[in-house]
Amino acid sequence: MLDPILLVEGGGSGRAVPVIILLVALAGFALAYFIVGPGKRKGPKRYADIPLAMRPYHSDEELETTGMERAMAWGVALSAFAALFLPLYWLIEPDRIERNVQQFYEQDVADGRVEYQNACASCHGTNLEGGSAPHPDPDIDVAWPAPALDNIVARYEDSEIVEDVREYIELTLVHGRDGTPMQAFSVASGGVFSDQQISAIITYILSVQTGEIPEIDAEAFVGQSGEDLFAMHCANCHGQVGQGRVGPQLLNVFERYGWDPDDPDSAETPRAVIRHALENGRRVPGEAPMPAFDQVLTPDAMTRIIDHIETFQETGGPSFAQIGGPPRVAEADEGGND
Ligand code: HEC
Ligand code: HEC
Repeated sequence: MLDPILLVEGGGSGRAVPVIILLVALAGFALAYFIVGPGKRKGPKRYADIPLAMRPYHSDEELETTGMERAMAWGVALSAFAALFLPLYWLIEPDRIERNVQQFYEQDVADGRVEYQNACASCHGTNLEGGSAPHPDPDIDVAWPAPALDNIVARYEDSEIVEDVREYIELTLVHGRDGTPMQAFSVASGGVFSDQQISAIITYILSVQTGEIPEIDAEAFVGQSGEDLFAMHCANCHGQVGQGRVGPQLLNVFERYGWDPDDPDSAETPRAVIRHALENGRRVPGEAPMPAFDQVLTPDAMTRIIDHIETFQETGGPSFAQIGGPPRVAEADEGGND
């Protein structure tokens, strides 16, 4: 009935209560055994010299008064004890379960911290503050930002593309992000971590959330052209000239949303679609997500980037000759994702 952990661990005063109950119960049974147990059949002490089988037993009078009363008193006492013990145990049990859950949680956080420091800190920072990683394409000499993870809950709290942050982190860890420095970590995907370890890492990450999202520093965008901003924030995934890499090519993204070069008004819809993608991110579950940029770029910086994308729009699909090969991600994206 009692969990062995309880007995071994001792510990806090709350934890000691069931142990005390158990000890009292054992003492009670021992005492009862001593007083009315089978040993008493030996009869009164004064016949100690007479062989056991020949000793006279208690007198009838004795048996019907003191002996019986004593046995009945013990019966009442033990019944009362059982009647008290069970409800008391029932009262204490939920508390105990909660303590065990807490203990497992703390263990997960501790294990997760170790795994995180070993496997993630080099890119995401020792304190989850974010960092960067070399571009997977050795020809491209631009570091790839690794997002801060100490605010991932706050960042995705109101997100259109993420419903459940824990699940989102898990998917990222299990599958990695093809074409980015973020590799897969689960054993099933060729990584090193079991489900249990991945779960511990996530528990650790969620346990150290600051909830703080750095303010956008508008000053930082002064003097940066749309082309600069595209190179800095978009080229990793969409290619230096919009040819596509992890994300779809953007060479004819305007056309995909109804652009007609002869009709200036027709640019409104594609511009709005791109702004929406920038503000909210884009994600087809199971595919690489496009992060939201509303916490990174000012609306004005977004406008400059959209202006820049408009400058390289084509119709009739991308010219591969111009970009030296087909995009890694085909133009399958027809915008049916929202
Ligand atoms: C080699 C560097 C590197 C290592 C090691 C690494 N990551 Fe990443 N991680 C990245 C990069 C870069 C991204 C951004 C990918 C992108 O732009 O889509 C990322 C993205 C993520 C994201 C998604 C963040 C978001 O805001 O969408 C999570 C969660 C994450 N990593 C967790 C981890 C954990 C946990 C570990 C350790 C088990 C780890 N990463 C190890 C580089 C790394
Ligand atoms: C970490 C990789 C990544 C980065 C960085 C990124 N994107 Fe994306 N982007 C994607 C992916 C992946 C998709 C496809 C998402 C989906 O629809 O599931 C996408 C989709 C888009 C789309 C929609 C295309 C269409 O045909 O509907 C636009 C527009 C876009 N990105 C623009 C940008 C711009 C502008 C930037 C820079 C501010 C940027 N992206 C930065 C990965 C990225």
